[in-house]
Amino acid sequence: MTNQLVLPPLYPQQRAAIYAPERYSIIEASTKSGKTMGCMVWLLHQAWTDGSPGREFWWVAPIFEQAKIAFKRIRLGLTLDGRPPAINLTARTIELPNGATLWFKSADKPDSLYGEDVYAAVIDEATRCKAESWHAVRSTLTHTRGPLRIIGNVKGRKNWVYHLARKAEAGEPDMSYHKLTAYDAADGGIIRIEEIEDAQRVLPREVFRELYLAEPSDDGGNPFGLSAIADCLAPLSSQPAVCWGVDLAKSVDYTVLIGLDAGGRVCRFERFKKPWQETLQTVRQCVGTTRTAVDSTGVGDPIVEALQRGGTGSFSGVKFTSTSKQQLMEGLAVAIQQQTIRFPDGPIRAELDAFEYAYSRVGVQYSAPNGQHDDCVMALALAVSIFPKYGVGPLVSRIAGL
Ligand SMILES: Nc1ncnc2c1ncn2[C@@H]1O[C@H](COP(=O)(O)OP(=O)(O)OP(=O)(O)O)[C@@H](O)[C@H]1O
Ligand SMILES: [Mg+2]
Repeated sequence: MTNQLVLPPLYPQQRAAIYAPERYSIIEASTKSGKTMGCMVWLLHQAWTDGSPGREFWWVAPIFEQAKIAFKRIRLGLTLDGRPPAINLTARTIELPNGATLWFKSADKPDSLYGEDVYAAVIDEATRCKAESWHAVRSTLTHTRGPLRIIGNVKGRKNWVYHLARKAEAGEPDMSYHKLTAYDAADGGIIRIEEIEDAQRVLPREVFRELYLAEPSDDGGNPFGLSAIADCLAPLSSQPAVCWGVDLAKSVDYTVLIGLDAGGRVCRFERFKKPWQETLQTVRQCVGTTRTAVDSTGVGDPIVEALQRGGTGSFSGVKFTSTSKQQLMEGLAVAIQQQTIRFPDGPIRAELDAFEYAYSRVGVQYSAPNGQHDDCVMALALAVSIFPKYGVGPLVSRIAGL
């Protein structure tokens, strides 16, 4: 074979984790620590050295779109004698000169992963892959006794990767466990320290710990932190409100009004389902002339206009977009973690406890689990966004149009 495989060098911790001698390596890793790149190098190396005609080497990612990223990166990065490798764009395979084929697969249909003999495999973004996909990939490596790399961000404790990682850490035969933090990646020269420090400043603590330090949260991804939420509990205050947040009912949920007193304590909490005319009246009666941020998304828009038109109130409409919602949630997370606000036990706390975050290519997204309400959380976040003494900063004020 005239071709020589020239691979980019991995930084020492990346190499130690991915090139571990054990058959299975389970790697809990920071975002941007070189998971995908390191494992691509490893899989290509396996296929190059252990490949022969007909032998398959698999890249598995949560959905096909993600598998395609690795396909594209290898396809564009690999040249053989100055020529591109033999690729099949339809099947998304890359054939090497020794006859080995790299396949790029999605984990969302685990049944389709059974049946082949595979000589080495990577499960990338493993915490987002179904457990069944790991069972399937494991079965394809049985006959070949092929090695496997399982790598991903950590995501709470309620997933198969967390449990497998703990087994590996406890010394299960044939398994090695590694952690790659953002600081390891910084030592390796692929991430800037300032980038990590900035993430630490702007992200909620739990999110930063999972994404950058690879330390799972206790609760499976609550962006506020269950203990921080518990630390903010206090009975309803009897002081007057200095600002209000109002989340208007959409088709199935409630209208929620939350007032904060001058100390940041919830002093009024109203939750009801009423026809629009009565809703308008109740909102006006409750808030009087105090500054109020109201959700003006969709059907909320004419309601906010009606509130602004009639009377002496001080209403600002806030349109929820994915960006403004995330900014409001980040402001709320900071307020909770710094204990700048207090709220009573009950529906507000229950909704905060149930909240989840998901990390995607566009950033961190906060939401209530499917089918659960978020109206108390939204009303609280709106009130926090205009709380006079609380320095949420110009970002949130801008959303509120203030
Ligand atoms: N050993 C290395 N040497 C130089 N650059 C590297 C190395 N490893 C990774 N990189 C670069 O660092 C960046 C992040 O790498 P990569 O996409 O593999 O990280 P990741 O952990 O998979 O990120 P994500 O969290 O987005 O999935 C890429 O631009 C990649 O080319
Ligand atoms: Mg990646």
